[in-house]
Amino acid sequence: MSQLDELNRQIAFLASEGNTALAAAQNVQNCEGIRVAYLGRNGKLAGLFRLMPTLTDAERPAAGKLINDLKMSIESSLEAKMAQLAFSEIESKLKADAVDVTLPGRPLSKGHLHITTKTLRELYAIFGQMGFQVVETPEIETDENNFLALNIPEDHPSRDMWSTFYTTQPGVLLRTHTSPGQLRVMREFAPQPIRVILPGKCYRYEQVDATHEWSFYQLEGLAVGQHITMADLKGVLTEFIKQLFGRERKVVFRCSYFPFTEPSMEAGMDCFSCGGAGCSVCKGSGWIEFLGSGMVHPTVLKNGGYDPKKYSGFAFGMGVERIMILRHRIDDVRHFYSNDLRFLSQF
Ligand code: FA5
Repeated sequence: MSQLDELNRQIAFLASEGNTALAAAQNVQNCEGIRVAYLGRNGKLAGLFRLMPTLTDAERPAAGKLINDLKMSIESSLEAKMAQLAFSEIESKLKADAVDVTLPGRPLSKGHLHITTKTLRELYAIFGQMGFQVVETPEIETDENNFLALNIPEDHPSRDMWSTFYTTQPGVLLRTHTSPGQLRVMREFAPQPIRVILPGKCYRYEQVDATHEWSFYQLEGLAVGQHITMADLKGVLTEFIKQLFGRERKVVFRCSYFPFTEPSMEAGMDCFSCGGAGCSVCKGSGWIEFLGSGMVHPTVLKNGGYDPKKYSGFAFGMGVERIMILRHRIDDVRHFYSNDLRFLSQF
């Protein structure tokens, strides 16, 4: 057999061996191995080229062409195989990652309004029916509005009732109650009649415990006009309590003291939990009081720009957290603003 015949035999062998190896290749790495084995610097085709010096001058061009044809054929088969493998790899990945669009989606956990916001809105609705308009007044107040104009002079012992956060600005503080809003509204509306509720945050320098927060909400009410009497105050508070806690509630008024109302009273109801027999909700008394109120003091009317000889008014104020504690039987005011979703998502 001539050297050229031997070369032909080897080419045919390598072509068939290469095709078999490629057919068996499972992945791109296998193909890469075949490429190195056949086309690499020390690969099988390089071995064929090393036979060239053994051929005659006349045989060499034909032999070179044959080896090159084999090289090109292996290259194009490798390319086709790699493309096919890459395609089936993508295909099986797509199959594995396939999304079944007919499956129901995962439910989104939607947020909801905070219980304080919900409660305030309920309170607005009740007073709204009775003609009260919501007015928001500032949380940063003057000493004058928070105390002096409300008939609480500097050395008055009743100032002890409101432990105060003062700012670095003299005479400026965080309001301890919503009552300073009374003066802001009176000064804005005088001498027109007024019927407003004033909701908002209040701040007191308190020892925080189950019933006291350093920041809490109050809702204030104020009505001023020429013929307003205590009967109007009692009527409004009775309707409010019955709407919030049930028509069957017995409403109670008891004498109290606030420097900015005269006379002053606490309003409340028989205990909805025990019906008056005495239990832990009413601390054994049978009654629950939760509203400070009274007729606007003549000095406060005057400070607000209303002549107390012609005008009268009533005011009331309540703690919003106290209402939520009662309605939802919560045992600790600190739950409301500690941002524990296990607590908040109940409402
Ligand atoms: C006042 O603040 C008066 N301004 C209410 C008022 C308005 C009386 C108009 C008459 C006319 P008092 O200090 O009692 O009153 O507070 C009212 C309510 O706010 C309390 O009953 C309580 O429910 C709530 N409150 C007071 N301090 C705190 C606190 N530290 N944490 C949570 N709630 C509080």
